[in-house]
This record gives sequence, structure tokens and C-alpha cells, in this order.
Amino acid sequence: MDGLGPDATDWQAPSADEISPPVVTHTDLAEQLAHSQSLHHAVLDGMLDPVVCINARGIILDASRSVGDVFGYDAKELTGKNISVLMTGDLRQEHDGYLARYLATGKTTILGDTRQFVVQRKDGEVIDVELSVNRVDLPGTSEPIFVGSFRDVTERRRARRAETSMLRALAAIGESSAMLAHEIKNPVTAVNLALRAVADKLGEDEQTILEDLAYRLRRLEVQMRQTLTFAKPLDLKLVRCGVAGLVDDTILACRPILSSHNAVVSVDVAADVPPPLIDHGRIDEVLTNLLLNAVEIGDVRKVSVRVEAPATGRGDVVFKVDDDGPGISPSVREKLFSPFVTTKQEGTGLGLPICRRIVEEHGGTIDVVESTLGGACFEVRLPVGGPPDKADFAEYLAPPETSSSEASS
Ligand SMILES: Nc1ncnc2c1ncn2[C@@H]1O[C@H](COP(=O)(O)OP(=O)(O)O)[C@@H](O)[C@H]1O
Ligand SMILES: [Mg+2]
Repeated sequence: MDGLGPDATDWQAPSADEISPPVVTHTDLAEQLAHSQSLHHAVLDGMLDPVVCINARGIILDASRSVGDVFGYDAKELTGKNISVLMTGDLRQEHDGYLARYLATGKTTILGDTRQFVVQRKDGEVIDVELSVNRVDLPGTSEPIFVGSFRDVTERRRARRAETSMLRALAAIGESSAMLAHEIKNPVTAVNLALRAVADKLGEDEQTILEDLAYRLRRLEVQMRQTLTFAKPLDLKLVRCGVAGLVDDTILACRPILSSHNAVVSVDVAADVPPPLIDHGRIDEVLTNLLLNAVEIGDVRKVSVRVEAPATGRGDVVFKVDDDGPGISPSVREKLFSPFVTTKQEGTGLGLPICRRIVEEHGGTIDVVESTLGGACFEVRLPVGGPPDKADFAEYLAPPETSSSEASS
């Protein structure tokens, strides 16, 4: 007798249906929900920059506590209102239409990018912000939500405007010196050329004296070119221009100076870079300034010029001028693009402000980015399509005109 009884050998494991599922009570669910909600609020409230979530009709679903500090609205007060309450001008009326058009066509250039924008605070004051918007598709819902993150850049803009008006004032003062520089430039160039021709026919001592004189005159020429550019309106002459040829021309023209500093320049232009709409002479001036800066700083052996067209973003051509020199001195880093900032004995401090003026006139940006060679790397971004006529939010949001082939398909 084994003691197990007659049915013991017939025992079968219970089926999945017979096993009762783990018991989840309402209390558990409520606790989980409460935890998830408090986590959600903690994340939103922890945001230093204002964050606003809207639904596909522009209605604000939630906002971070920081909207209070920056926009003057309480987060709860904003919930349920249309996002257009934060907008100004025509956009206030038009934003719903943009959203509807985006949902119908899927076309937008605002999503996934950072744009300049203005927000009207509760007290009516208009502030400058940078806005990044992302689409989020929640599981189980057919409509997307949009999460906008704002950064208040009013102070930065204000400082930039003050600087711009100072530049204008300087430009006005420079107007007269520009005329003078223009008058002097041609004779100086002629004297320079004549000196070089005569120097070849003289003895070594006289040649040294004349070369020194020629060098001083050349610097005067560079300074006068800079003064002329700085003082006069730029009046861009825009043409579609192949970048490989442009870079080659610039390096060729700079070769005497580059080789006098024993610098080796490498060039890498990506094959897929489209020809941007630019003023060839002005962008040559920008690249020349950056190249000369790279070698004039001293201790530079390698300079690299790279050009690429990143697939993401609005469609930019990106130039990078990189060197293996000492990098930007901390004493000038903060005000690098301000006029008359220089660490060189014979510097004018006009090269970089001129670069910025030319680049911004093209609708682009210039920044210092991380150097791959260990020195300083300047990055110039230019929109392939040339300077945008009207860089406002509506233009970025509005879907482009549908072409006839797209319309018929
Ligand atoms: N590639 C570089 N490496 C290190 N410092 C640089 C570089 N380019 C510019 N700078 C710094 O920025 C300053 C301002 O440059 P710029 O506006 O062209 O005027 P300038 O060349 O007449 O000094 C330079 O004096 C230098 O200190
Ligand atoms: Mg310079």
C-alpha cells in the first residue's frame, strides 16, 4: 500500500484557466495611478523652462509650474485654454488652422527643431523665447499630443539688440572713415605692388627694408578692407554657388599667408552638399578671416576646412574651420564676436564681428564648437535657400505650397 489512494496516479496539473490570476484590487490600481500621476507632476514641476502639452486642437492639457515665473500664468489657469492665448498678432487666430493643416497633410518644419518665437505674458508683455515642439503619440489614442518647451531668451536678445544698435552707431561713425579708406586703398595697393617690383632689383639690405614696408602696407590693406565691410551696408549679391570651388578659391588666395605660417590645410567637402544661395565674395571674406585667424594665433600646424549638409534641420550648409592651435583665450571667449576685441598686437578685433554680420545677413549662425584638432573650431551654418524673408513662427509652421504632382497623387 503506498497510501496515496486509488486516484493518485491520475493526477493532472491544473490548466491555466483553473489557476486564479493574481488579485489586483481597486486600492492597488488607485495607488499605482496616484504614484504615476505624482511622478508625472514632479517631472513637470521640476522643469526649469516652461513646458506646455497641447492636444491636436491646441487645447492646453498640462503645463509645468515654471510657466508661472516666465509667462505669469498659473499652470492650472492655463489648462483647458487654447495655446493661442500665449501668442501674438495674426498667429493667435491662425494657429488652429496650422495645426489642422499639419494633421491633414503631415507637413511642418517646426516639429523636432528649435525656433525663435515670441510669447505674450499674462500682463501683456511680449517676451522672446526659443521653442522646441515634439509630437507624442500615446498608446491607445488616435490623436497625438504636442509638447512644447520654451526658453526665455529675452535678456540674451536684449543684449544682442543693444550690441546691434552700438554696431549701427559705430557703422555711422565708420561711414566717413569708410570713404577715406576707400580713397586710400587703391593707392596703397599700387604702392605695395610697386615696392615688390622694385625690391627684386635691389640688394639684400634694401630688400629687407622694402619687405618690411610692404608687409606694413599689406596689413593696412587688410584693415581697410575690414573697415569698409564693417561700415557699409552689406547689400548681398546672392547666387547659387558650389562650395567646393569656393573653398578652393579662398585657400588659394590665402596660400601665401598660410605657407608663411607653415600651416598645412586639409579640405573635406562632402559630396552631397547642395549649392547654397550666398554672396560668394562675402562668404569668401568670412572663410578668409577664419583661416587667417587660425594661423595668426601661432603654434598652428594643421588647419582643416570641412563642409557638410546635415540631413536633419532646416537644410543648412555647415562650414567648419578647425585648427590645432592654443584655442580661444579665456580673456576673449565671452566677447569674441564684439568689435575691437583682440589679443593680437596688430589685430583690429573686427574679423569675427564682420564674420558674424555677414553670416547673420545670410540668415545663418556662427559659433565656436568643439575642435577635433585640439585648437579652436568655428562653425558657420548657412541656410541652403538663402536668408529667410520673414523668420517668424507662422512661416515655419505653414505647410509649403503643394506642387501639382503632389496634389494629383
Ligand atoms: N582660431 C583661433 N584660435 C584662437 N583664438 C582665436 C581664433 N580666432 C580668433 N581668435 C581670438 O579672437 C580674437 C578676435 O579675432 P578677430 O575678431 O578676427 O580680430 P583679430 O584677428 O584682429 O584679433 C583674436 O585676437 C584671438 O584672440
Ligand atoms: Mg582676425
